[in-house]
Amino acid sequence: MATVTIEKIQKNGFFETLRTDSWRAYPITVLIGLGGFLIYGTWSALQADYYWFSIADTGFGGYLAPFYSPLFFIKEGVAGAAPIEHAIFGPWPQWWPSWIPPSPSLLILAIPGVFRFTCYYYRKAYYRAFTGTPPACAVGALPRKGSKGYVGETGLMVVQNLHRYAMYFAIIYIFIFFYDAFLAFFNNGKLGIGVGTILILGNAILLGAYTFGCHSVRHLIGGRLDCYSCSMGAKRAHSNWKLVTWLNERHEKFAWISMIWIMVADLYIRLVSMGVITDLNTW
Ligand code: FES
Repeated sequence: MATVTIEKIQKNGFFETLRTDSWRAYPITVLIGLGGFLIYGTWSALQADYYWFSIADTGFGGYLAPFYSPLFFIKEGVAGAAPIEHAIFGPWPQWWPSWIPPSPSLLILAIPGVFRFTCYYYRKAYYRAFTGTPPACAVGALPRKGSKGYVGETGLMVVQNLHRYAMYFAIIYIFIFFYDAFLAFFNNGKLGIGVGTILILGNAILLGAYTFGCHSVRHLIGGRLDCYSCSMGAKRAHSNWKLVTWLNERHEKFAWISMIWIMVADLYIRLVSMGVITDLNTW
């Protein structure tokens, strides 16, 4: 039987492997899926318009496209913009450079962007699909000039340590997404439900499942403890830890489903706001 050694793979180079299964499927899927998400997210963030839908210009409630939540500032007079009372800090700031679109999305994407970029699951995915280091287990990695070999997450990749800090802010976003879902049950002050409501509520639930299944949350909630039976507090921490562990074991699934769902929800609200499609609802 042929023996695969790391030396042999390293010597033979990129893509060299004795694997006979369809190992290429995973990095190709990530390349297309994650690449598509990055392209759509950037495009949506740069639009700066049609991110809000409501039957009336006044009255409580409406749909807010998730790539635009939370709304720190709002530029009035823009097509498809939310009413000014939804801005946390008020009208669009004067200091904003004129050559950058006045998009509320550009102000808030950094947190979810850093959170996803530094996620332990996504690291595996894009190291394989985008940088080929390596493209899969037991497959030759893309040679890097002047590389000292694997040096851990130091150097450029020290930025990955931001994950635990991004996590605190990402949790705040989850509460805001649930508030958006609450808003989506109203239109012109009237309680009801529409396809947009379901998409926005689903977005909050799925992002919640993804965020609370984070490895850093699991550590924070109880994973850092050495003894679960030593005190009442530790026993409670163990119960929380088991709950988070259930989500954590499905972290990859929630990463993908929530990523696709947020794109669909964002695009749907954008199209409804533009009048391209009509929202099915009870209002
Ligand atoms: S490990 Fe994936 S979000 Fe923290």
